[in-house]
Amino acid sequence: MRGRRAGRGDARGAAQLAEAWSWRRGWLGPSLIDLHCHILPALDDGAIDLEDSVGMARQAESDGIDVVCATPHIRSDHDVRVDQLEGRVSAVNEELERLGIGVRVTRGGEIAEEAVGRTDDDQLGELSLGRNGLWLLIEPRPGPLGDPTVETVEQLAERGFRCVIAHPERHPGERFREQLETLVARGALIQVTAALIAEGPAAPFLLELAAEGLVHLLGSDAHSSRAGRPVRLSEGRDRLSEVERLKPYLGWIVIDGPAAILRGEPVIPPFASVPPVS
Ligand SMILES: [Fe+2]
Repeated sequence: MRGRRAGRGDARGAAQLAEAWSWRRGWLGPSLIDLHCHILPALDDGAIDLEDSVGMARQAESDGIDVVCATPHIRSDHDVRVDQLEGRVSAVNEELERLGIGVRVTRGGEIAEEAVGRTDDDQLGELSLGRNGLWLLIEPRPGPLGDPTVETVEQLAERGFRCVIAHPERHPGERFREQLETLVARGALIQVTAALIAEGPAAPFLLELAAEGLVHLLGSDAHSSRAGRPVRLSEGRDRLSEVERLKPYLGWIVIDGPAAILRGEPVIPPFASVPPVS
């Protein structure tokens, strides 16, 4: 069924975008990819206007991020029209090019679980990361992470999609670790918010999860250049370097893994989850 979705050709486009920009900045070192950012202007609760989007792109550039995946909320409290996304992304990219900012925006969406059932496969393909037709960024339903999220991942797998679970740290509960392990066993990848693992009260717990192999990706989940978390991944990556077993994989977490996702590849993390040390 996936063949009828429009995403495959664009997966190549997104991958070429990522690779071209990585090559362009190669002399500065490998560039990072942010798979979770509300950079499109006046659409959800993200960037207020184009100037704000540009400010977010400047933050990304200063952090060594070349590609930002625009992931507006696909949720009943935000009126985001899928057919408008291409034009919105193009408008931001044209402005970034005009200003000489070395960042490009690619397609995506942060799809709330409640929206999955009423969104058809073609629309999900349009909302996939890099419009690759495979990987979806899924926002868990409110409350503790539970069996329904596992069922959502299973249902999407039956529909031909794989899931990146956005910021599960916002959904603590009694069986949190067990649920994460189950999600991973079902083929999901776990993305935590870079700023929260970099510092703050949640950081020690997130580092424990990372040591258990239950953190695969970082996202900025930035909403504005004027307030809140910036478009920044490097501090989270640097904090992850405290986890001995992840040291060989820091580049995979912020560069190679996201690039493979944008290419629409069936990514398998290079490190396995392990039981917590008691
Ligand atoms: Fe988000």
